[in-house]
Amino acid sequence: MKSKKITMDIKSIDKNWCEDDFYRMFYNILNAGIPPFERYVIKTMREVRDDPRLKDEPRLRELIDIFVQQEIEHTKMHVPVNKHLDLDQFPISKRTEKITRFIQRKTPLHMSVASSAFIEFVGFGFFDSHIKKEVLYSSGMHEEMAKLWKWHTAEELEHSFVKLKVINHINNSYWLKTLGLIEALIVANLYVTTLIPSVVRQDAKAQGKKFWPHLWMFMKGLAKTDWGVNRQSMKDYFSKDFDPEIKEPWIAEQIDAWIAETGAK
Ligand SMILES: [Fe+2]
Ligand SMILES: [Fe+2]
Repeated sequence: MKSKKITMDIKSIDKNWCEDDFYRMFYNILNAGIPPFERYVIKTMREVRDDPRLKDEPRLRELIDIFVQQEIEHTKMHVPVNKHLDLDQFPISKRTEKITRFIQRKTPLHMSVASSAFIEFVGFGFFDSHIKKEVLYSSGMHEEMAKLWKWHTAEELEHSFVKLKVINHINNSYWLKTLGLIEALIVANLYVTTLIPSVVRQDAKAQGKKFWPHLWMFMKGLAKTDWGVNRQSMKDYFSKDFDPEIKEPWIAEQIDAWIAETGAK
């Protein structure tokens, strides 16, 4: 696991960068929500890095450093893309980031670590279904946007285990993880769900479509989305002897394939 970069021709990305209306809006919501969300996980993991319980765990500290570096690179790439696509000026984003920062300050650090572990380990389970459905190939995405998401998803798959491993080492109590899950649901909804009306409205305008039917179509697509939150992923999150680092072989293959395809180094 290491932090890699890609080069992108951002200017070539058209506003209507994906033929599939649902996936264009879905990924635009992710695009807009990613930088503030990544600032949240970066802040959390930077703070926990110096936890005395990690004093004799140089490898965990190294994993945290690589994780933070990967997220910094993701944000650095998403910010100019968002600017280019006018996804960086939603007033709701700024408001929800303030609220999430407040929540983060008021809750114990370990709760935010558990929350980060939940979101990226369980909550990002939809990547799995998008991989199976080959969304990054079959939805008519602009090449450069597909490249951005292949690289980003590859590194998300790569580092998904880090936060769960850290919280399992520090405190893997059921109650802390339950509180982490609650914080995760709140912040994930603030970062992502609140963006739905703004992104759908902007997209409807650009496509010359009416807002309500466009929103209805989007919500129907969301209802059909498989989030990967299931019995097994929840069991793994709460488990005391589960090692999240051990992944299924296809994940390593997918990461290698996308790193090769995007030329990330
Ligand atoms: Fe990321
Ligand atoms: Fe991540």
